[in-house]
Amino acid sequence: MRSSWRSYNNQPIEPDKLTKMCEFMRSLTTGPFGGHARFEFLESANLDLKKANKLGTYGVVTGAQYFIVGVKKQTPMDLEDYGYLFEKIILLATDLGLGTVWLGGTFTRGAFGKHMNLQDNESIPAVAPVGYVTEKRSWVDSFARYITKATTRKPWEQLFFLQGFDKPIPYESSEPFSMPLEMVRLAPSAKNWQPWRVVKDQDTKNFHFYIQRRYKGRKYDEITRIDGGIAMCHFALTAEELRLPGKWIVNDPNFTDLPPNVQYMASWEVN
Ligand SMILES: Cc1cc2nc3c(=O)[nH]c(=O)nc-3n(C[C@H](O)[C@H](O)[C@H](O)COP(=O)(O)O)c2cc1C
Repeated sequence: MRSSWRSYNNQPIEPDKLTKMCEFMRSLTTGPFGGHARFEFLESANLDLKKANKLGTYGVVTGAQYFIVGVKKQTPMDLEDYGYLFEKIILLATDLGLGTVWLGGTFTRGAFGKHMNLQDNESIPAVAPVGYVTEKRSWVDSFARYITKATTRKPWEQLFFLQGFDKPIPYESSEPFSMPLEMVRLAPSAKNWQPWRVVKDQDTKNFHFYIQRRYKGRKYDEITRIDGGIAMCHFALTAEELRLPGKWIVNDPNFTDLPPNVQYMASWEVN
């Protein structure tokens, strides 16, 4: 059901929904790699609505009354943890009938940072407007969706593999995990790059998660690591929903046929 929205109407979010989201955000402190993040709801009225939408998002977002701002503490896998936790909030908002869009690039850190009391080792990798969406997408939103081909995803065989990277895994042979994998495939990613790759281990039946890194620019590379955490979140939540027990471990199987810039992230250990 989730898709990115960049234009919002002026309907306020009901207090019970706001409370639900705030309580949920407060409960999320530690990601699967043990890194910490904190999240807050900021009202555009307090930020100065014009500033929050026009300056704060370079005009990409219009009409947003609320923003979720996420702050992470620096740790080795901080961005993966951050993506994992923030996506849980995005999915809760979706469940409550609210629109969102991840903003990892088109927002000004200063406009939001001054409300977050940042400590030395803290930063704001992303923010997200949240609220009721307009009936029709704004032209900026439609244009952003057009250039990122937002409604399309890479086919299954380019993303999911069996025992290394040369053999795609057919949908049926990944059962009962085909749905968690499909939810990885449908996950949002910056510029819709879809950097996640998953390899099923034939012996252990575990799923190894990889990310195609973008080493050309630090900013781009950081964002693909957030995408990695988002993919892990989609997989774990779907497995939980389907009552498929398992947990995250870090145990690189060291396959020798990794494509260029593809890096191991974590594995889902099937119980
Ligand atoms: C980590 C991350 C950062 C993103 N940053 C931006 C951004 O700065 N500006 C923007 O307009 N969209 C941004 N997006 C939204 C993506 O462009 C969008 O998720 C993708 O095109 C797929 O479309 P969908 O979310 O509608 O499925 C970001 C998405 C992710 C996951």
